[in-house]
Amino acid sequence: MTIAPVVPMLSKSEDYVKRDGENLSPSYTRSYPFVMDRGLGSEVWDVDGRRYVDFTTGIAVTNTGHCHPAVVEAIKKQADKFLHMSGTDFYYPSQIELAERLNALAPIDGPTRVFFTNSGAETIEAAMKLARYHTGRPRYLAFYGAFHGRTFGALSLTASKTVQRRGFAPLVPGVSHAIYPNPFRNPWPGLEPGQAALDYIEERLFKMAVPPDEVAAIIVEPIQGEGGYIVPPSNFLPGLREICDRHGILLVLDEIQSGMGRTGKLFACEHWGVQPDILCLAKGIASGMPLGAIVARSEIMSWPPGSHASTFGGNPISCAASLATLDLLLEGGLIQMAAESGEYAMKRLWEMAARYPQIGDVRGKGVMIGVELVKNRENNEPDAALRNLVIERAFHLGLLLIGCGPNGLRIVPALNIPRAQLDEGLDLLDRALAEALEEI
Ligand SMILES: Cc1ncc(COP(=O)(O)O)c(C=O)c1O
Repeated sequence: MTIAPVVPMLSKSEDYVKRDGENLSPSYTRSYPFVMDRGLGSEVWDVDGRRYVDFTTGIAVTNTGHCHPAVVEAIKKQADKFLHMSGTDFYYPSQIELAERLNALAPIDGPTRVFFTNSGAETIEAAMKLARYHTGRPRYLAFYGAFHGRTFGALSLTASKTVQRRGFAPLVPGVSHAIYPNPFRNPWPGLEPGQAALDYIEERLFKMAVPPDEVAAIIVEPIQGEGGYIVPPSNFLPGLREICDRHGILLVLDEIQSGMGRTGKLFACEHWGVQPDILCLAKGIASGMPLGAIVARSEIMSWPPGSHASTFGGNPISCAASLATLDLLLEGGLIQMAAESGEYAMKRLWEMAARYPQIGDVRGKGVMIGVELVKNRENNEPDAALRNLVIERAFHLGLLLIGCGPNGLRIVPALNIPRAQLDEGLDLLDRALAEALEEI
């Protein structure tokens, strides 16, 4: 008699992860096997019924929490009427109403116009094309550590990890990178990093390598996201605005991650009172529906019919979700909640830092918070292995976290995360760190 070999039973999650591995592109960057079944607010459940606190919001997207009833209701209402009618060729109310609202809310004086896209990268592409079209200039300036997306134009600006660029050259020509000022890891010891970063652009780049009158746009994240949640010194963005004005360069602010209330203001640039010429939005703009937008000064958005368009960009369901999202942010008080939760979380994280010398820095604004893990605070040597282990331990304990930069944790919960769940998540992070340190 032959005995059948024992085939281990896979959990539902394991089964999906196996099938994913066999069928999807290996280019995705999963750090742990969370297979989502459903979500509500700041709680999510996997296909095996396990519950997690979500500190990721699907990478800063579900800013109003998962499936906010008002957003779901707006989507259902629009879905009952029509799903699509290409805003490129036809008109529909939700797209026009959303454009009106974004124009009214954009931190730009004077008239503005909106172009809708489906994603962050597409938004950046639109900004790059518009800047070139309007100025007639061929060059762009971006920053090391920046993440602006992975399509060819956006990737030419992105300079966060070489794996994102390796094998894809040549990229769009004419892009140069400057140094983003990081107060925690100052690249110019002894100098004030904000001014040093500005001087580097004027004195080095513009005098030696990049004629400023050939630069169409400086593209910058007001708070660097993927690069490590770096909040620049307060003189940096105003200084960039001055450089742009001096040389007729457009200032393009990538608020794809930092916008839509995440930092405790509707747009992060409002913390520094700096106005962009082109504002880039996506991610949280529609609480999880695919949508992006550039908002630009009207005199800049002067391209003729046919010069840029998109079949799906600004589709009616995403626009309806976005209008509901804006109502929640502005009338529902979610921006204020983000500011308060952020302050509270940062305080708790600094209390943790007093117990763990492996927490090198805690920084951010609102609920866009980065925590750098280091070998110890004496030398602040980055500890990527510890960061990765903490993320894995947190997952096993019931907390979803993701990384940023080489050794950072990003804490990006929903703007309206209830205090009890914020506390629960921070307690789990505390335990995950303790367990990781025992294990390492
Ligand atoms: C600041 C910033 N810009 C652009 C992008 C690209 O967005 P998407 O992934 O929707 O193309 C991202 C995505 O993480 C981002 O954080």
